Amino acid sequence: METGFFIIFINLYVIAHKIYAIENSNFSNTWNNFTQDSQLLHATYSITIIDNSTGNVTFSFNKDIGLAPASTMKTVTGAAAFHYLGTDYRYKTLLQYSGKVNPFGILNGYIYIVGSGDPSLGSWRWNETKGDIIMQHWISLINGKGIKQCRGIILDLSIWPDQTQTVPDGYPWGGLGNYYATGSSALNWRENQFRIFLLPGSTVGSPVTVTGFENLPQLITFTNELVTGPPGSGDLADVYLAPDSTHGYLRGSLGIDSPKDFSIGAATPNSAIHIADELRQRMNWSKSMPIKIIYQQDVNTTVNRITLDTYQSPPLSEIVYWFEQDSINMYGEVLIKTVAQITNSSTNRVLPLYCYNEHGIEQTAVATRDGSGLSPQNRITTLAIARVLYNIQQRASWFPSFERALPIANGIRMKGGFISNVLSYSGYVNKQVFSIITNNYNGVTSVMRQKIWNLLNTLK
Ligand SMILES: *[C@@H]1O[C@H](CO)[C@@H](O)[C@H](O)[C@H]1NC(C)=O
Ligand SMILES: *[C@@H]1O[C@H](CO)[C@@H](O)[C@H](O)[C@H]1NC(C)=O
Ligand SMILES: *[C@@H]1O[C@H](CO)[C@@H](O)[C@H](O)[C@H]1NC(C)=O
Ligand SMILES: *[C@@H]1O[C@H](CO)[C@@H](O)[C@H](O)[C@H]1NC(C)=O
Ligand SMILES: *[C@@H]1O[C@H](CO)[C@@H](O)[C@H](O)[C@H]1NC(C)=O
Ligand SMILES: *[C@@H]1O[C@H](CO)[C@@H](O)[C@H](O)[C@H]1NC(C)=O
Ligand SMILES: *[C@@H]1O[C@H](CO)[C@@H](O)[C@H](O)[C@H]1NC(C)=O
Ligand SMILES: *[C@@H]1O[C@H](CO)[C@@H](O)[C@H](O)[C@H]1NC(C)=O
Repeated sequence: METGFFIIFINLYVIAHKIYAIENSNFSNTWNNFTQDSQLLHATYSITIIDNSTGNVTFSFNKDIGLAPASTMKTVTGAAAFHYLGTDYRYKTLLQYSGKVNPFGILNGYIYIVGSGDPSLGSWRWNETKGDIIMQHWISLINGKGIKQCRGIILDLSIWPDQTQTVPDGYPWGGLGNYYATGSSALNWRENQFRIFLLPGSTVGSPVTVTGFENLPQLITFTNELVTGPPGSGDLADVYLAPDSTHGYLRGSLGIDSPKDFSIGAATPNSAIHIADELRQRMNWSKSMPIKIIYQQDVNTTVNRITLDTYQSPPLSEIVYWFEQDSINMYGEVLIKTVAQITNSSTNRVLPLYCYNEHGIEQTAVATRDGSGLSPQNRITTLAIARVLYNIQQRASWFPSFERALPIANGIRMKGGFISNVLSYSGYVNKQVFSIITNNYNGVTSVMRQKIWNLLNTLK
């Protein structure tokens, strides 16, 4: 009797949900209209909606087609990071020295900075991570040991088997010199960014002047090809500067009516060298002092190092919070490398394996080239994203940290993504989990965005 009642109850429940899916006529109408939109005439797009209470897919279109997800990829990266590392994980950076200090303050050894990949080292986002605070602390520790001179600074990047500051293979050249496409290293510094201040000319077409820099790494020079654009044309300025290089190009335009103190963000070509340079300058050490990077194969295990400081990052919950909120691509690359090391896999295998092992998603549905979504070569299905988002809401102990990290846009808790002709959103709305991705839409991005938001509004 009881069992029978239960079955009837479940059936009614299922029927109710089918009816709900069909009878949300606002959604159906808006969706039908959406598919007719001329901006999507040559586009590939996909949507999956999962009901939070049943886990059933209530609506989908092209759910098994892999698309470039842009930054909605960060939902899966954030989930994988919490899963493998935990919300309390902290990166540790060491300040060490070798050798002995003589009575004149001369150290017959080296200062070592040992990286662990901390993406927040020197970041302005937390009081305790600020570059000036960390530098002052390290200088006081070095002074405290009576060290006035040393043989050089050694940057120990041995934590990761691969080389120094690497940019994922799939990042486009058009992005590389800009703040959002900076590489990541075992030693990141000030989010691997510096600022370039620009002043437009007095007529359209005249040159733009570089008026200054903030946190400019040593030895960087630019060829400035920027021109003044018409009023209202804004910031169309790009930085072309390759990883590890010292010469770059400024190209594009800056609107004639841009504010006086206008600046653009550029990518530091080698963040480990930048941190050592800054320490050297602040210690008033000579420009000719050797600065050396060592990798795993270079570590001399017979050298005795004394640890002056073990600097700890904020917990991973905080790092993932800013990763999702401000879509910091470099954080994603570091998280993927950290997980790759712990799980003994390659960076491109981290997300396919996480989706397969923890969520039963076929590995072929997830083909990643980075952890941020910046590479146009990434592919994932909306079903895979929605399934991960549904599962973690149901069963992950760290879900509250994840949910808090997701931004709220258009009144919906969701992560958005944008790269050239790609717009995407994934998140939670009114007891539903959704993921929508558009690739190769045409026309104005803000107009396309509003159409997607109008569609999502019907799920509220
Ligand atoms: C459909 O949209 C209208 C106008 O936005 C709203 O008043 C109505 O409640 C919506 N109906 C459903 C079933 O969501
Ligand atoms: C249908 O799409 C057009 C063009 O995007 C838009 O102007 C119109 O408001 C839409 N209608 C509905 C019911 O969503
Ligand atoms: C929906 O979910 C219920 C409960 O988990 C399940 O019994 C049912 O088969 C699902 N329906 C569909 C269409 O997948
Ligand atoms: C950070 O520093 C500022 C300025 O010193 C201070 O007002 C603020 O309370 C600090 N924030 C935290 C979280 O400690
Ligand atoms: C470096 O020189 C400046 C200017 O003389 C001085 O203020 C500062 O204290 C010096 N730094 C160290 C670490 O000695
Ligand atoms: C390693 O360090 C020891 C002790 O400082 C030194 O004698 C030796 O030459 C070093 N080995 C290499 C390969 O640099
Ligand atoms: C990591 O993977 C490599 C290559 O598959 C293997 O040789 C090595 O033993 C693995 N290490 C650990 C700790 O599992
Ligand atoms: C979704 O389901 C989970 C588990 O059943 C529940 O804890 C949560 O409150 C639900 N969320 C919404 C928005 O309904």
